[in-house]
This record gives sequence, C-alpha cells and structure tokens, in this order.
Amino acid sequence: MAAAAASYSSSSWRVRPSLTPLRSPLQLQPHGRAHRIAIFAARMESRSHAAPSAMQSSSALHRLEVATHDNKTIPERLAVVTGGNRGIGLEVCRQLALQGVTVILTARDEKRGKDAVESLRHGSNLSNIIFHQLDILNDSSRASLAQYIKSRFGKLDILVNNAGVGGVAVDQDALRALNIDPKIWLSGKAVNLIQSVIVQTYDEAVKCLNTNYYGLKWVTEALLPLLKQSTSGARIVNTTSLRSELKRMPNEKLRDDLRNVEMWDEARIEAMLNEFLADLKKERLEEAGWPTMLPAYSMSKTVVNLYTRILARRHPEMRINCVHPGFVNTEINWNTGIIPPEEGARGAVKAALLPQDGPSGCYFDQTELGEAW
Ligand SMILES: NC(=O)c1ccc[n+]([C@@H]2O[C@H](COP(=O)([O-])OP(=O)(O)OC[C@H]3O[C@@H](n4cnc5c(N)ncnc54)[C@H](OP(=O)(O)O)[C@@H]3O)[C@@H](O)[C@H]2O)c1
Repeated sequence: MAAAAASYSSSSWRVRPSLTPLRSPLQLQPHGRAHRIAIFAARMESRSHAAPSAMQSSSALHRLEVATHDNKTIPERLAVVTGGNRGIGLEVCRQLALQGVTVILTARDEKRGKDAVESLRHGSNLSNIIFHQLDILNDSSRASLAQYIKSRFGKLDILVNNAGVGGVAVDQDALRALNIDPKIWLSGKAVNLIQSVIVQTYDEAVKCLNTNYYGLKWVTEALLPLLKQSTSGARIVNTTSLRSELKRMPNEKLRDDLRNVEMWDEARIEAMLNEFLADLKKERLEEAGWPTMLPAYSMSKTVVNLYTRILARRHPEMRINCVHPGFVNTEINWNTGIIPPEEGARGAVKAALLPQDGPSGCYFDQTELGEAW
C-alpha cells in the first residue's frame, strides 16, 4: 500500500498546515518543476448513454409564484447556479428557467454574467432569470449572495454547484495543431500525443482543488441555512466527472477507503488532499498510487463525490446528488467534447428537479444513475 494512503487513513493522520488551501485571496505554493502526466485517455472514453430529453417543450414556461403575507412575491422554486455565464452552467440556467424555476445565474465576472442573463432573456424569451455576482473562492462574494437571497426570498430550493476548472496548463495552439480525431481521444490512444502540450503544475493543482472542491463546499455552507428553509424540498447538485470513478483510482487501499463514506468527514478529506499535493510536489504521484491522468482534476471530483455522500447522510430531508454531465463541448476541454451543452445540462436539471422520494447521495452519469464508487 502506498505511503500516502497510510498517512491520511491512520488514526494519527497528518494535516500539513502549510499546504492547506487558503481562502481568498488564493495563495499558491511556489512552482515546482512542471510535471508531465499522461492525462486524457480515460476522460475520452466513450460514455454514450441515451439521454432522454427532460425538457423538450417550452410549454413548461410557467411562473409558479406564491405571495407571502407581507406582500413579497416568492417563487415556488428558486435556484442558484454557479458558473452560469457559459458552458453547461448557462444551459442549466436556461433549462431550469424553462421548467418554471426562478434562476439566479451567478458568475464571478459581472459583465459576463449580465451578458449571459441578457442572452437568455432575449434569445430564449425567459424573464425568470436574475443575475448575482459570485466568485466561489471569495468569502465576501459568497456572503453577499447569501444575504441577497435571505433578504429578498428568505429561502433557496435548488443549488447547482457547476463552476469548475480543468487544473492543468495547456499549450492550446500546440494542442490544436495536433488536430486529434475525437475517436483517438475516446480510445485513449492520444495520451502520448498530448504529453508535450498538457502539463500538471503544482499551482494549477492548488487552483483546481480550491475551485472544484473547497469553493463548492464553501458555497454550500453559505447557502445551507437558506436551503433548510425550502418548502418544496431542497436539492443540491454537485457537478462531478467520470474521472472521479473509483475504478480509476490506482491505490487499492485508498479506493476501498473512499468507498466507505462512514470513515470520512471534511477534515479527513482535507488531510488527504494535502497528502496528494505534497506527493505532487515531490513528483511521486505514481509511486504513491494517486491518479496520474488529470491528477488534480480527478482528485477534486473524487472528493466532490465523497462530500456529496457525506452531505446526503447529514441532510436526509434533502435530495443531494452528484452528476457527470458527459463529455461536453465547452471551454474546459478546449472544445474537444462530443456532446453539446444542451445535452450535457440534462443530468443536472434532472437531479435538480427530483421528486421528494427520488434518490439522494447518488452519482448520475448524465441522466442515469451510475456507479462511481
Ligand atoms: N465539459 C465537460 O466535458 C465536463 C465533463 C465533466 C465535468 N464537467 C464539469 O462541468 C462543470 C462546468 O464546466 P463546463 O464544461 O461548462 O466548462 P466551462 O465552459 O469552462 O465553464 C466553467 C465555468 O466555471 C466558472 N468558474 C470557474 N472558476 C470560478 C470561480 N472561482 N467562481 C465562479 N465561477 C467560476 C467559469 O467562469 P469564467 O467564465 O469566469 O471563467 C465558467 O462559468 C465543471 O464543474 C466541470 O468540471 C465538464
């Protein structure tokens, strides 16, 4: 068994304070030597599930609102989507709004967010979309959003944690010049080709874990008191990736431990991530049994799954799930994906609109329940 797993999982597992990801402003450790990693093959595996259209009809464009005693108009279902200005997040906003949900489209950049809301208002004729700024890594930005929702609506029904980053440094021109056929991507045979253009640096790894896991957790913590006030049954949707599936985790002991949700809490997750970063810095990922394909991204989504299961156990009254959207054509993968955002958004929308007797603590591979652990 690898040393990394032994350390996080022993009763005296260590937390390395110097490596603890910091709240904003994001602080990065000094650059280590760029560590070239075989990255993409598994991500490119074909996962073509039939994705039944959850929302083909725009006749669902109905605003469900209830007036409260103090004459405030409160939407029946209110959703927050993080990273809503483009890609899958933008499409989740559109599809939820088409279902009559009032959507707070959030983005870290005010102009990009407002432009996105305008595009939905005019392009899709949707009036039930509101913009609010949210940088998920910024304490005061998260607090400001929570305060806005509290004072204006007093509750939240749906949180879609969508914002994310890829966590690698890429020479995009060189990647484009390779002109890799999607079939080669999907077969996994592109690994050797891309090693020269896609690099896992330490700084990108820190940014990736901070955004994809810690940012998601901090947003959830900020909005949980409002989700508890939901009268329609709160839903949390955490965007994950097939890179999180435990069958891809080389370290057998770690894989077994990750299956056992009872032994985990947020502190132990943080300790494990610090072990991972320390091993990345020492260039011993492979030796320690961590994922070597998109390492930081894979670890970030692995712990998103774990956190989802922890939360689902803690809040049985809510439906809390994680969703892999498919291999979607967006900027995060330099537009190499094979399905459009319209299709990629369907799983998150389905999980956001689950009935009260729907699953919780589960992994959706697009719109179907899948097995990630
Ligand atoms: N595309 C795929 O094939 C695929 C597969 C599996 C999982 N996913 C997941 O799907 C989610 C959406 O990705 P995408 O494919 O739509 O990629 P994308 O087009 O690159 O969108 C990423 C979004 O996240 C936002 N974001 C990043 N850091 C943020 C921060 N600190 N605060 C607020 N927003 C932030 C970006 O905002 P800016 O515009 O300001 O940068 C952007 O809106 C991610 O979690 C990704 O990991 C995607």
